[in-house]
Amino acid sequence: MRIIFLGPPGSGKGTQARFLCQTLSIPHLSTGDMLRLAVEKKTFLGNQVFEYLKKGLLVPDDIIIHLIEEKLEQKDCEKGFLLDGFPRTILQAQSLDHFLEKKKLCIDAVVLFLISPSIVLNRLSGRRVCSVCHTLDHISQMKDNTKNKCKKCQNDLIQRPDDQEHVIEKRLVVYQEQTKPLIEYYQNQNKCFSVDASQTESEVFSAIEQNLFLKTKRQQGVI
Ligand code: AP5
Repeated sequence: MRIIFLGPPGSGKGTQARFLCQTLSIPHLSTGDMLRLAVEKKTFLGNQVFEYLKKGLLVPDDIIIHLIEEKLEQKDCEKGFLLDGFPRTILQAQSLDHFLEKKKLCIDAVVLFLISPSIVLNRLSGRRVCSVCHTLDHISQMKDNTKNKCKKCQNDLIQRPDDQEHVIEKRLVVYQEQTKPLIEYYQNQNKCFSVDASQTESEVFSAIEQNLFLKTKRQQGVI
């Protein structure tokens, strides 16, 4: 299957992508993770995009399209993939469609994560990430004696620079202005279904699984 996760920052796309990719055995293509890794390793790409990430702005389309097309050409994407954080502009979506059409392929489903800005603000301002294994945690779930240590590998937890309140607010504005128009774009292609992303992680996952199952059956003409 070829799936897109679409939704505001902090709506849980990354969390659910990890679950679903494990279940479906398909690669998880997170443009945010790719860019952060490039920044961490101080590569040419990392130096190009550092300022955009820090300010919560979108990286220019040409850079991100080139990055994702390179990934999609790899062998492990032949059996399907999950795109998390891409596309984020109409131009990115059009270039993805064009890229897939040339290969006689298409996107099977777009999962839209619905959530209020106040929940997002709470989730992201309290989010901490392991500096080594990148496991996610939230300050509200940390016990005093293990505070700021990863629950999996005990290394230090850090706050993403773009998880400061003023940057989160900027990212939400950018989502409204540049990414939200994609909802209509994919609704017109009849690819979209939405989930209530404010539920617990397992409730959101069940909703995604159930909708994907129904969508597949409809596409096969079974129901
Ligand atoms: P990116 O990394 O894609 O950031 P984002 O879309 O803003 O999403 P996040 O990673 O912040 O949140 P998420 O929805 O994955 O939620 P998560 O599962 O982590 O992009 C970063 C930057 O890269 C962009 O700002 C831009 O500069 C650049 N970029 C990336 N792609 C680009 C593109 N295509 N074009 C141009 N620029 C691009 O969950 C959040 C928190 O909530 C965690 O603490 C988690 O534990 C918790 N949580 C998750 N689910 C639940 C739940 N159900 N209940 C309670 N807590 C939950």
